[in-house]
Amino acid sequence: MSTPHGTSNPSGEAAQRHLQASAHRHLWLHFTRMSSYAEGDMPVIVRGSGQYVYDDRGKRYLDGLSGLFVSQIGHGRREVAEAGARQASELAYFPLWSYAHPRAIELAERLAALAPGHLNRAFFTTSGSEAVESAWKLAKQYFKTIGQPSRYKVLSREIAYHGTSMGALAITGLPGIKEPFEPMVPGGVRVPNTNFYRAPDFVADDREAFGRWAADEIGRAIEREGPDSVAAVFLEPVQNSGGCFPPPPGYFARVREICDKYGVLLVSDEVICAFGRLGYYFGSQRYGYQPDIITFAKGVTSGYSPLGGMMVSDALMEPFGGGDAAGRGYLSPRHAGHPEGAGPSGTATFLHGVTFAGHPVSAAVALANLDVFEKEDLLGNVRANEGAFRATLEKLNDLPIVGDVRGDGYFYGIELVKDKATRETFNDEESEWLLRGFLSPALFEAGLVCRADDRGDPVIQLAPPLTCTQEHFDEMEQILRAVLTEAWSQI
Ligand SMILES: Cc1ncc(COP(=O)(O)O)c(C=O)c1O
Repeated sequence: MSTPHGTSNPSGEAAQRHLQASAHRHLWLHFTRMSSYAEGDMPVIVRGSGQYVYDDRGKRYLDGLSGLFVSQIGHGRREVAEAGARQASELAYFPLWSYAHPRAIELAERLAALAPGHLNRAFFTTSGSEAVESAWKLAKQYFKTIGQPSRYKVLSREIAYHGTSMGALAITGLPGIKEPFEPMVPGGVRVPNTNFYRAPDFVADDREAFGRWAADEIGRAIEREGPDSVAAVFLEPVQNSGGCFPPPPGYFARVREICDKYGVLLVSDEVICAFGRLGYYFGSQRYGYQPDIITFAKGVTSGYSPLGGMMVSDALMEPFGGGDAAGRGYLSPRHAGHPEGAGPSGTATFLHGVTFAGHPVSAAVALANLDVFEKEDLLGNVRANEGAFRATLEKLNDLPIVGDVRGDGYFYGIELVKDKATRETFNDEESEWLLRGFLSPALFEAGLVCRADDRGDPVIQLAPPLTCTQEHFDEMEQILRAVLTEAWSQI
């Protein structure tokens, strides 16, 4: 039996030691300096319930990051687990290569109804990286098919994370995680992100002017690269990496205009921002823009089984034989004039697929997950409580180490600074100590799962389950306050 912060020992010390020894010998953790565990134990999380997870010693942690931006409905939902088990007994696996199965069909229809505009076609994958990879490949093949074969480049923002497979990595804007894998797939081009706290001086006082400038930089990059070479722009509704950068007012409206002007596709990478993270099924709905493709993963199943995918507009599907002849969907003016782009449905085949995409168990789980969203009005919960979440986190502004609290919905970043007045950030050595040496272990020790990250400037990120309410916001704030105060005293 376990108590909230107790140390009961459900699996016994011998079992724990055995697990640790096996993990040290055989398991390779992702993005983890394995040598840092040479002398110590790896955290082993054994179960979850609601907004909390428990380690192998029975200690409880508030899951302030939904695992990894995944567990929207929280942990331990029997009805979702059972939906997966039922599906596994009925039809555990069949591919979506040339065949369909009922759960994939039902999920595709349900997602089409939830997605904005004419994004009526679901192409499933198993992960976010594969979704991003698929979107780039679709953009390239689409343009070849409609007679614009020179378009292959993709624009994305500095410090943005779009995944780790080689194509997605070329879109990712984090030099540090790309360097070991150079040369990159050609075609990735960077544009500025929307970190208003670090905006250039000439737009530092005016969010709208900043948004206009950042969006126009996309237009300038397209001109510089040659408009006929650019296929797509990949943007998250709120950029995660760097610490939750919401779009400035007018940003996405202007980006949409620019994409239309140059016939470039707008891909909204919603691997984090879909499925309620921002209080809407899709993040683009919150900011009122219409993408040509939405990529998703994570929250679509709340992690009860892996699934990703992309929602594709009828217009993009047209050369592949599935356009909506009646509505035709959103078609950028540039493509609308093209005889093939606007013509009758084509016969091309999208030459792309992965074995486990749209796995029947994952599709069944996704449907059950969406049932929970509806039954419990989780979008309503986020919209009703996001103001309280923000206000609670903003209390931390009185700490000298807190420079900026930013985000939307249930998705927040807290930027840490050395000097609040000048916004001076920490150097690499200080940042290494602060984040990896102190904050990450101390926050975990204090019972909070969150992310302390310095892929941009140092930040702490929070993305709790969508079921959280004031008591959980208070718990996060209290733990952060105590640990950040201690960190400041040691700097
Ligand atoms: C915006 C975005 N795109 C793509 C990915 C890659 O997803 P995955 O880790 O499922 O491959 C992530 C992962 O966090 C992400 O945040």
